[in-house]
Amino acid sequence: MKEHLVIFDTTLRDGEQSPGASMTKEEKLRVARQLERMRVDVIEAGFAAASPGDFDAIQSIAKIIKGATVCSLARSNENDIRRAGEAIAPAARGRIHTFIATSPIHMEKKLRMAPDQVVEAAVKAVHWAREYTEDVEFSAEDAVRSDVDFLCRVFTAVIAAGARTINVPDTVGYSVPSVWGELMRTLIERVPGAEQVVWSTHCHNDLGMAVANSLSAVLAGARQVECTINGLGERAGNASLEEVVMAVRTRSDLFPVQTRIDTTQIVPASKLVSQITGYPVQPNKAVVGANAFAHESGIHQDGVLKHRETYEIMRAEDVGWAQNKLVLGKHSGRNAFKSRLAALGIVFDSEESLNAAFARFKELADKKHEIFDEDLQALVSDEDITPEGEYYKLVYSHVCSETGETPAANVTLTVGGLEQKASGIGSGPVDATFKAIESIASSGAQLLLYSVNAITTGTDAQGEVTVRLARAGRIVNGNGADTDIVIASARAYLNALNKLQFPDRLDPQGDV
Ligand code: KIV
Ligand code: ZN
Repeated sequence: MKEHLVIFDTTLRDGEQSPGASMTKEEKLRVARQLERMRVDVIEAGFAAASPGDFDAIQSIAKIIKGATVCSLARSNENDIRRAGEAIAPAARGRIHTFIATSPIHMEKKLRMAPDQVVEAAVKAVHWAREYTEDVEFSAEDAVRSDVDFLCRVFTAVIAAGARTINVPDTVGYSVPSVWGELMRTLIERVPGAEQVVWSTHCHNDLGMAVANSLSAVLAGARQVECTINGLGERAGNASLEEVVMAVRTRSDLFPVQTRIDTTQIVPASKLVSQITGYPVQPNKAVVGANAFAHESGIHQDGVLKHRETYEIMRAEDVGWAQNKLVLGKHSGRNAFKSRLAALGIVFDSEESLNAAFARFKELADKKHEIFDEDLQALVSDEDITPEGEYYKLVYSHVCSETGETPAANVTLTVGGLEQKASGIGSGPVDATFKAIESIASSGAQLLLYSVNAITTGTDAQGEVTVRLARAGRIVNGNGADTDIVIASARAYLNALNKLQFPDRLDPQGDV
């Protein structure tokens, strides 16, 4: 009989800490619904004290998610814990995840606290958290560089104070599988009360070993893995959910655990997160990369045709890869549109937004006869709604690009509802369009990344553009999709400018 492995998804918290991956409330709700459909056990929905926007998103997720525990991160201080407690209050099952750093370097240089003060703050934090929920998780940030005796001391104290899950993070992605497994084994052996709690592992991928380290911790007794879709996360990212889940399932001969994940929802989740954050998935990424099940060499193709298992250890359909399906066309009605989107986890809060999306669908169906699920997802994410509404909006664009001539663009935008026109020239039509937009917006933002991907196949496919902008230390991604890539580019640029209007967030790894 296999034990249950808790899948704790932190795409909406640690994943969102990737530069430019910040999501709007509506986007977070869509991701949360998909995580629920995939049957993750815990959704870390954000860090309530970071900003009013984070608080609001966690509370909204807590209201609608019934099939998973909804969790908020909180530093070990009273204000953070109370904000987290209020944010998760509407949840059917709510968790507070509190943390404090335990390594000498973090305690001395960042927290400027003595070890005794750290233990005291951790215990107080767990007591405050228990006023809101029995489900309290404690993390020792930078456990990887902490003294093992001190870790045992902190964990013993927080278990006595009422923590139910003890998380051991490799915050800086420094460990290797043998060492990480050994640490988990030692902690479980040495900490009094270890058998009353769930041991958890949280690994970053700086040396490319986040998944391997997590799996080693599972073999050593961890029964919760903290991970993200597509391995999104701070710096090189977190352990990737899809790799952990498929490793445990595919090598069930090795792992004494099983998850309750509906693996057929993995690829849809990966595509959704990639589309919303603008972080593309590398083609050779395990499980969810476009080439993960493609066989190029003749020998492999021949083998797979004769007997699939010659070169395939997993089935593409088991992780949700399906042939691009023609789902809707120009004659499809509003109800078919609405129910297909509902099947993709996209639910509209008002008739007005449904009607607006349906109008965009009809426009797209006129230009592109075959509409796939990916087109529908882009169509909706394209209408990215910022809390302030769309401050910059594209009304009209015209570009002129001729061999031997300098490309030129004319654009008309509404800026806070008022129409403004401008023109620009550039090294190409996209450059000219961005210059025209900038001559209106004067944002002063620096363009860090511009990328175009075809959403589906064929020359009539929509191009999906990601633009990453930086200003005054803030980095945001904007997305836009259209069959015309210059228009898609203009939309992506404006989407990023709209996001720059958001207030700044606190740094979740910051001081206590
Ligand atoms: O990496 C880390 O240490 C974290 C903690 C807050 C769990 O994300
Ligand atoms: Zn982390």
